[in-house]
Amino acid sequence: MSPEYYRSAVRSSVAKQAVRKLGRLRHSGDGRLESLGHDFDRGHRDYVESLPEGERLWLRTKPFSAPPNFELATCLRTFAHVVEQLGLGLRAQVLDVGCGPGWMSEFLARCGYWVTGIDISEDMVEIARMRVARIPEQVGEGIDPVAEFHAMPVREMPWSDRFDAAILYDTMHHFDDELETLKVIHRTLVPGGTIYIREGARPAEGSESEQALIEEMRVRQTLESPFDPRYLLEVVREAGFEDVRRLLEVDELVAVDDLRQPFNAIGRFLRYRLGRGDINTVVARKPLGLEARTDTTNFSGRIESVGEWEDSSEPGEKLIWVEVTNEGRAFWPMAKAFPYPSGVVTVGPYMTDDAGERIELGRSMLPHGVSPGASARVLIRVPVEAALGEVRIDLVREGLAWFSELGSRPLVLRPKG
Ligand SMILES: C[S@@+](CC[C@H](N)C(=O)[O-])C[C@H]1O[C@@H](n2cnc3c(N)ncnc32)[C@H](O)[C@@H]1O
Repeated sequence: MSPEYYRSAVRSSVAKQAVRKLGRLRHSGDGRLESLGHDFDRGHRDYVESLPEGERLWLRTKPFSAPPNFELATCLRTFAHVVEQLGLGLRAQVLDVGCGPGWMSEFLARCGYWVTGIDISEDMVEIARMRVARIPEQVGEGIDPVAEFHAMPVREMPWSDRFDAAILYDTMHHFDDELETLKVIHRTLVPGGTIYIREGARPAEGSESEQALIEEMRVRQTLESPFDPRYLLEVVREAGFEDVRRLLEVDELVAVDDLRQPFNAIGRFLRYRLGRGDINTVVARKPLGLEARTDTTNFSGRIESVGEWEDSSEPGEKLIWVEVTNEGRAFWPMAKAFPYPSGVVTVGPYMTDDAGERIELGRSMLPHGVSPGASARVLIRVPVEAALGEVRIDLVREGLAWFSELGSRPLVLRPKG
């Protein structure tokens, strides 16, 4: 049947149920695929019940299943991207928005993150709980897998300033008021927290893929309304996120003797640059806010030495381990490489000269991002001569401030005797 058939059917049904359904109509001009004006919240709630047993089994085993399995590689690759991009530490708080059957939540809990999954469907949440309950062992020495699940619509999430990261895997296109939804997710994140969105982009008008989505909406009564890439970036910014990036997946094995493959990859890259491409992967951060530059409640840390100066395998160098603890409200993003981007947290040893000026001794990166209340161990390296005198160790918000300027106390290491 033609899309016009569905559209006219929708028009007449909207006319009959105007008040209830008006709020649910999506118009194609606004950067997303138009809905059919149906009760999609109900469609999502009833979804699991409507499935044949084989598909319910998939929900319990996702992303694994006997072949053919069309999603395994995508799920595993995406999971690797999520872990890499977020760079979180042990017990980081992660929100899985629209967690569905909870495969992503389960994997995250197996990494030692503390997971909260929400989904509008009670049945999905039930499956997610069961999956985590079935993890047979601790996920590290003394570390249990931790995940809680709540059946609720995304816009009713009650939390503020709680999560270090929010992940939306294959869900954003189901949410009807995208701006409002993103503002709620923004509120749930700690300052500096990351949102990670990954799903299919809106297909071309009149394409087979568009037809398939319209058919899915008609049959399943769910909302299948993916985003134009540029519109998604716009609305993420409008919701208050910064450092908004659209990322292109390029991780595939390339035959070294086949020159077509790099050219194909460049072609894909250019399509994405032009705002096209079939996948929307968007990563963005909740800003720390201007007040965060001077506000000690956001940035405050404790630094303690772990042991004494040790000899290094590098000649002329001494080492010491320190433990840094995040005593503020903001997430500490890690640096991945030098030069360090503005806003990431590093550890900076220094000496002071006779005039009290800092003589810097080479900063160390955090091994992972550090959530409020969490700690990380960092190896500090200084020249042997420096270790003979007094060395101070402070945390640094790159490009913005030393933590001691915000009221935290640096660790002072004095020479023995
Ligand atoms: C395609 S599934 C993806 C689930 C999961 N992220 C995964 O990768 O398996 C989308 C999920 O979004 C949920 N959902 C749809 N609308 C929602 C809403 N308004 N609030 C919360 N969850 C919603 C659905 O119930 C469904 O489980």
